[in-house]
Amino acid sequence: MKISAHSDGAFGVTVEGFDHDTARSADIDTLKEAVYRHKMVVLKGQELSPPRFLELGRRLGRPEKYYEPMYRHPEIEEIFVSSNVPEDGKQIGVPKTGKFWHADYQFMPDPFGITLIYPQVIPEKNRGTYFIDMGKAYERLPGHLKSAVRNTYCRHTVRKYFKIRPHDVYRPLSEIIDEVERKTPPVVRPTTFTHPMTGETVLYLSEGFTVGIEDEDGKPVEGDLLHQLFEATGQLDDTFGHQNIHLQSFEQGDLLIWDNRSLVHRARHTVTPEPTVSYRVTVHDERKLYETTAAA
Ligand SMILES: [Fe+2]
Repeated sequence: MKISAHSDGAFGVTVEGFDHDTARSADIDTLKEAVYRHKMVVLKGQELSPPRFLELGRRLGRPEKYYEPMYRHPEIEEIFVSSNVPEDGKQIGVPKTGKFWHADYQFMPDPFGITLIYPQVIPEKNRGTYFIDMGKAYERLPGHLKSAVRNTYCRHTVRKYFKIRPHDVYRPLSEIIDEVERKTPPVVRPTTFTHPMTGETVLYLSEGFTVGIEDEDGKPVEGDLLHQLFEATGQLDDTFGHQNIHLQSFEQGDLLIWDNRSLVHRARHTVTPEPTVSYRVTVHDERKLYETTAAA
């Protein structure tokens, strides 16, 4: 297995010659270290069936099955399917997923540390996914915003981007909203935390899932602090030219593994959608999202 930095100087590394069937546990450790240190690892030349893709995920951690069944692969339910290509006339998974800034499962009580994406059908023209490293973005915040976020908490919810399911047709919207609030109530977390694997400070918020910022007593912070944070980190830049934004491209056979604690990402918008299918496996590693200190 050969690990090399990207030639364009962008974050992440490329790994050639990795085969999880023959990889030793030391190789898996090296791979995970690269995920934490470089945030993004692109495995080249992968040819994996859905069960073997899941096996690779299992070597990195404990898979988390997506909570809404309509996203699951029909045979391997730990695989989340994003697809606009029907199979035998049937929709598999969900089309147009993740076209907003987010970290996976940010709205859930126990988000996982690692995301693996294995593109299956790759668009010709508009390929790639946008990423922002929220560790780096925190570092680059102006001093007054760094002080402003100290001792604050963010409120995250799926509400804005919850997708209506086939069985929701003819249901009153209020009933669906009630169900979303009951099944996935908002979660409140520190605005920044220390990454348990690297020690860096991560600004943990996203335009898609973060809906409020509050003080230690749960009182909303006055003013437009959250908006300023979205703006400063690049999440409101619709031209995607902000210095924090990285477009990660991929080709057939690439398998992307990234640090879901510190990266937020967003699917690329296309005016004329092309066929696109990708499989995702998400895994919990040895640690929680961040360490909580015991109450004094
Ligand atoms: Fe995602």
